[in-house]
Amino acid sequence: MKIAGSVALVTGADRGLGRAFARELVSRNAARVYGAARNPAAVTEPGVTPIALDVTNPERVARVARECADVTLLVNNAGVMKASPFIGAPSLDAARLEMEVNYFGTLSICRAFAPVLAAGGGGAIVNMLSVTSFYTSPLDPSYSASKAAELSLTNGIRMELSRQGTLVVAVHASFIDTDMAAGIDVPKISPQSVARQTFDAVEAGEIEVLADERSRFVKASLPRDHELIYVPLQQVFFDVPAKDSV
Ligand SMILES: NC(=O)c1ccc[n+]([C@@H]2O[C@H](COP(=O)([O-])OP(=O)(O)OC[C@H]3O[C@@H](n4cnc5c(N)ncnc54)[C@H](OP(=O)(O)O)[C@@H]3O)[C@@H](O)[C@H]2O)c1
Repeated sequence: MKIAGSVALVTGADRGLGRAFARELVSRNAARVYGAARNPAAVTEPGVTPIALDVTNPERVARVARECADVTLLVNNAGVMKASPFIGAPSLDAARLEMEVNYFGTLSICRAFAPVLAAGGGGAIVNMLSVTSFYTSPLDPSYSASKAAELSLTNGIRMELSRQGTLVVAVHASFIDTDMAAGIDVPKISPQSVARQTFDAVEAGEIEVLADERSRFVKASLPRDHELIYVPLQQVFFDVPAKDSV
């Protein structure tokens, strides 16, 4: 689909990658860009229409879908990452929050907007996933689980919406230079690059974006994931000698 003339809605558009998505859509001449955020006053990108939306509030999601019934391109970007382990976390709170926002929030918006997109001729959904949709990162284990669930829902809705002609695009990246990765001193891709690659894919009708080298490496390594991904991580993060790795 063409971005020019489309009507887009981006969740989490007040900062980070969501803001870059909104800016890129405006620069590609989208007819309208709704910038959804928990605090709409923080959506200050020129050319973007602020909308109040907490993705975990089902009533609000339903209302936004009614109010923005002209949307043809839905960008599910809002997300949380609590850097929480499975076993060592003090409670299930972080894991539940990540599932609530990253998985159930995205699912709820996809369900609300599916008829809107159908009425507009099909359109497209972009789900902002992660390299951790493919494997469990020791830096953010329960977030990885939520992003794996979000990949599963992305693959599922692609099938369920295929008859109505909705393109469903999965975007994977490792570290992006935003607040979410601010505490980690590693090479990061720019949010602008992720946004450009994403909308190039939408325009080309492609279903997957592997935005950086780490994402491409991990996806290519999946047939040998234990040997190529988990054993090296176990050695680095848990001091397990190579011969003891299981
Ligand atoms: N940064 C990375 O390294 C990286 C890598 C791969 C994938 N991603 C994914 O990229 C997406 C954007 O992340 P980012 O890097 O831009 O992170 P960020 O700077 O932390 O921004 C997160 C955004 O999500 C919004 N959000 C959180 N909970 C929400 C809720 N319940 N309802 C509505 N909005 C909510 C935040 O709104 P508030 O301002 O109100 O908090 C903010 O706009 C996420 O899905 C993330 O998982 C990030």
